[in-house]
Amino acid sequence: MMVLVTGATGYIGAHTCVELLAAGHDVVAVDNLANSKVQVLSRIRELTGRDVRFYEADILDGGQVDRIFGENAIDAVVHFAALKSVPESVAEPLRYYHNNVTGTLNLCARMARHGVRRIVFSSSATVYGASVTMPLTEDAPLAPVNPYGRTKEMIERILRDVYESDNAWSVALLRYFNPVGAHPSGRIGEDPNGVPGNLMPYITQVAVGKRQELVVFGDDFETDDGTGVRDYIHVVDLATGHLKALDRIAAGPGIHTYNLGTGTGYSVLEMVRAFERASGVSIPYRIGGRRPGDAAVSYCDPTKARTELAWTATRGIDEMCLDSWRWQSQNPRGYEAG
Ligand code: NAD
Ligand code: WQD
Repeated sequence: MMVLVTGATGYIGAHTCVELLAAGHDVVAVDNLANSKVQVLSRIRELTGRDVRFYEADILDGGQVDRIFGENAIDAVVHFAALKSVPESVAEPLRYYHNNVTGTLNLCARMARHGVRRIVFSSSATVYGASVTMPLTEDAPLAPVNPYGRTKEMIERILRDVYESDNAWSVALLRYFNPVGAHPSGRIGEDPNGVPGNLMPYITQVAVGKRQELVVFGDDFETDDGTGVRDYIHVVDLATGHLKALDRIAAGPGIHTYNLGTGTGYSVLEMVRAFERASGVSIPYRIGGRRPGDAAVSYCDPTKARTELAWTATRGIDEMCLDSWRWQSQNPRGYEAG
């Protein structure tokens, strides 16, 4: 297939491009580089021996998106492009709704105009909100607690309405749990701007001496050791999930929702210990207050993806930590060094 990947130079997008190219698909990539670096593209080429056709463009720009569809015989779209910081979304809701929701509306309108009706959408476990029983199945109630999460819920709703209006569409809504890790080569990985908001990049930056200590956000949750429990998933497993989802939507029209996680939760302190084991570096930490909006526990039931997509996550936390560490230690300044 010829696949248009939006947000292709971002963390998950880059790993997915590698897996798509390795599987023999052609990739057309679009990104406005709002949260990624163009150097990613040469790393993708280095890993796969293949080029993606890259457009530096904003999906909000209808003319540019039209041009991309006009110049390439796109079979399907994998849509990663979005802003993803929860605190930023609270501070700047208009920017988030505009970029994520309007960007997707624009993309889908151009898809329809060019007769492309297959889309894999990056949704998030964050659409579930906090107060439900674990593990989360796809039919759990949706109750996102911040503007970022609400953009994902809205886009899911929009794509359902699009399918209802035209049953020729083929849509996969993928709800990712907590992506971590990096390509095992150490050549591509997560390169956040500024202070990382997520646990794993914070840990790796402490490990390379960029940050002094990890602050654990609360040890008084109702979990075994009191710290938050999450379903961490290796980014390469996540990437292969997209290939399976593409196969599913290429097989025929419909709309399908899948959790992509391992089904196992680990606490913050378990992650710290696993990272120390994998890297041999000790991670100084102190216990701080809870972060507003944090749930005690979140992990999924991945059965639906296993039975319908024949996909399952195969990489455990040791591999996640080892690969995160390889990436960070070999690229202490991320992609900056070229
Ligand atoms: P990322 O920020 O690394 O990648 C997103 C990419 O989209 C960036 O390269 C950014 O420059 C680009 N982008 C943003 N707005 C754009 C626009 N208007 N036009 C063109 N490009 C644009 O984030 P990621 O972690 O790779 O996440 C990819 C997707 O997965 C996002 O939709 C995110 O919401 C979703 N997601 C991420 C996580 C996570 O924890 N990383 C979890 C669940 C869901
Ligand atoms: C994991 C655990 C923290 C940082 C977020 C978004 C969600 C999704 C994935 C996109 C929690 C604890 C963290 C730190 C800590 N993104 N922690 N110290 O909050 O599960 O999900 O990323 O869709 O929308 O909300 O992930 O990595 O931020 O936190 O103690 O410095 O680590 O409290 O228990 P989270 P996270």
